[in-house]
Amino acid sequence: MKKLRVLLIGAAFSADLHSDAYARIRDKVEIVGICDKKLDQVEALANRYGFTGYTAYDNYDDAIAQCDCDLVDICMPNFLHHDVAIKALNAGKNIISEKPLATTVEDAQDIVDTADRLGKHVYYAEDWLFAPAFRKALAIVESGQLGRPLYVRARECHCGSHSPFAQSIKFCGGGCMVHLGVHPVCFMLSRKNNQWTELTAMTSGGGENNMVHQKMEGEDWAGAFIRFADGTYATLEANYVTTGGMEDILDIYCEKGCVHVDLSFSGPVKTYSIDGLDYTVEKAEITTGWSTPAVDEKYNLGYCGEINHFVECAMADKDADVGLRGVDGLETLKVINLIYKSAKEGIHIKNPALEG
Ligand SMILES: NC(=O)c1ccc[n+]([C@@H]2O[C@H](COP(=O)([O-])OP(=O)(O)OC[C@H]3O[C@@H](n4cnc5c(N)ncnc54)[C@H](O)[C@@H]3O)[C@@H](O)[C@H]2O)c1
Repeated sequence: MKKLRVLLIGAAFSADLHSDAYARIRDKVEIVGICDKKLDQVEALANRYGFTGYTAYDNYDDAIAQCDCDLVDICMPNFLHHDVAIKALNAGKNIISEKPLATTVEDAQDIVDTADRLGKHVYYAEDWLFAPAFRKALAIVESGQLGRPLYVRARECHCGSHSPFAQSIKFCGGGCMVHLGVHPVCFMLSRKNNQWTELTAMTSGGGENNMVHQKMEGEDWAGAFIRFADGTYATLEANYVTTGGMEDILDIYCEKGCVHVDLSFSGPVKTYSIDGLDYTVEKAEITTGWSTPAVDEKYNLGYCGEINHFVECAMADKDADVGLRGVDGLETLKVINLIYKSAKEGIHIKNPALEG
C-alpha cells in the first residue's frame, strides 16, 4: 500500500498530539516534512516519535513549495492558519487545519471557497468527535434507549492557554470561547447538522473586565445558550478560570435518562503523592496529593481517531464526516462570532439562515 505523505507545519503542542497519532499508523503514513521556525523543536518532535527520513524546514513557504507531500497538517498559531491553508491548497495539497479554522469568518470562508474551487479537501481537526467516551455517550443516546434528547450541557475549561498567541485577539480570534468553546460548539452543531435557531450569550469581556487574565485581550469566561431546530437546548461554556486541570465535560439529558461524561478525571487510576508526579492530566498546576493520572490521554481525548479518519479520507480522496469538514469549521466560527456579538451588544440572536 502506498503511504500517505504528510507535511507537518508547526512542531509544538498540537503537532505533538497529531504526531502521537501518526506514529500509531506508520503502515499508512509517512512524515516527509516538518516545519517550524524553531528547528530545535522540529528535531525534538521527530526524535520523540521516531520520525526519520523527513526534511526539516524553518519557513512554511519553502516547505509547501518544496516538499513532495499529499497532505499538509497545519499546527500553527491561529492567525497563520489562513495563509498556510491558502498556500497549501494552491500548491495542490489537501489540508488538515487545527481549530479554529481561521481568526475571522472571512478568512475561514476563503479557505472553504478556495478548496471547493480547486477540488481539494479541508479536514477540520475537531478531536471531541473522536473521544471514545463521547462517542459511547452519543451511541447510547442515538440508540433511543434514553428517549428524546432534551438538553445538553458541554464545556471545555482550564487555567489558561500556554501559547503566547492566545493573549491577543488579532492572533487568536477571541478569548476562551474561540480557543476552547470551539470544541463544544462544533460538537453540538455537528450533532444537529448546524440547525441552530437562536442563541444568547455572556462573556467576561476581555482585558481588565476579565476575572483572572486581565492582560489577555479576549475574554476568560464565556457561556452561551443555544436552541436547535429540533427543540433541543444547549448550554455551552468555556473558561480560563478553572484550576486543577483541563475539564472536558458533557451532560446529555433525555426524556428517560441522562448521560454524563468527564473526559479528564474519570480514569481508573488514582494516586496519592507527597512529592508530586511528573505529570497527571493536561493543565494540572500541581500533582501532589490525590490525582487521577490520565490513561493514554491523547487517545482518549480523540486525537488518534481524528488523525486516522483524516488519513483514510485523504487516501480515498473524500471529505471527512460531518463536523470535521472545512465547512464545519466555518459554521463553528460563525456561531462563535454571533456568541461574541450577543454578549457584547446584550442581544438575543436568531439564525438568519433559518429565518422567514
Ligand atoms: N485540538 C486541540 O485540542 C488543540 C490543542 C492545542 C492547540 N491547538 C491548536 O493548534 C494550533 C497550534 O497551537 P500550539 O499550542 O501547538 O502552538 P503555538 O500556537 O504556540 O505555536 C505553534 C508553533 O508554530 C511555530 N511558528 C509560529 N510562527 C511561525 C512561522 N511564521 N513559521 C514557522 N513556524 C512558526 C512556533 O515556533 C510554534 O512551535 C493552534 O491553532 C491551537 O488552537 C489545538
